[in-house]
Amino acid sequence: MRLILLGAPGAGKGTQANFIKEKFNIPQISTGDMLRAAIKAGTELGLAAKKVMDAGQLVSDDIIIGLVKERLKDADCANGYLFDGFPRTIAQAEAMKDSGVTIDYVLEIDVPDEMILDRMTGRRSHPASGRVYHVKFNPPKVEGVDDVSGEPLIQRDDDKAETVSKRLEVYHNQTEVLLGYYGKWAESGLPGAPKYRKISGVGPVEQVRDNAFAALSE
Ligand code: AP5
Ligand code: ZN
Repeated sequence: MRLILLGAPGAGKGTQANFIKEKFNIPQISTGDMLRAAIKAGTELGLAAKKVMDAGQLVSDDIIIGLVKERLKDADCANGYLFDGFPRTIAQAEAMKDSGVTIDYVLEIDVPDEMILDRMTGRRSHPASGRVYHVKFNPPKVEGVDDVSGEPLIQRDDDKAETVSKRLEVYHNQTEVLLGYYGKWAESGLPGAPKYRKISGVGPVEQVRDNAFAALSE
């Protein structure tokens, strides 16, 4: 299974990625998680990326495309992968197409803008595993603690209200165009075209998961 999760910041891509990667036994390739790991490691790339991410802007296509191409060389990608938060621009999508990266499904998770801010400000993350919680909507068993590892949860630096609205604006201006890009490709029925599926990201996490699994089995 090779798939792309598309959706606004806070739509639930990371949350659903955790279910999907387990079901299909594929690695989650989250460019956001990769960049945050670089920041934590204090690399040059991380330092440069942090400024851009805290401003709610997109990191340059060249950097992102380079990161993903390197990641795809890893042995665990041989049987499939799940892209989370990538591609985010037409240039990134075209770079994948040009390098012959196959996609079976594009799954769009749709959530209205009005719901996003609440989701972001209540988010708590476990960076090492990519697990995501919400203080109200999807709380961990023990407050502030990851269910599986028992390690502390963190709040992301870019989940401040003003950064969230900038990220939403950037999503509408630069990423939303990909819905049409993949939708049209899917409709073309050309060899190698992915299947395009859209689900609502509103409702309990488990309900969205069941809808995602159903969409990916059609
Ligand atoms: P990235 O890490 O990709 O962030 P994002 O796309 O903005 O998405 P989020 O991670 O914020 O949201 P999500 O959809 O994963 O939602 P989640 O499941 O966590 O990117 C961060 C930054 O890195 C970018 O701004 C950019 O600077 C840079 N970057 C990354 N990739 C890049 C690229 N390809 N090109 C250029 N720059 C790039 O859920 C959110 C919250 O909602 C959680 O608290 C969760 O518990 C809760 N929730 C989830 N589902 C539900 C539900 N059904 N009901 C209620 N609450 C729910
Ligand atoms: Zn995410």
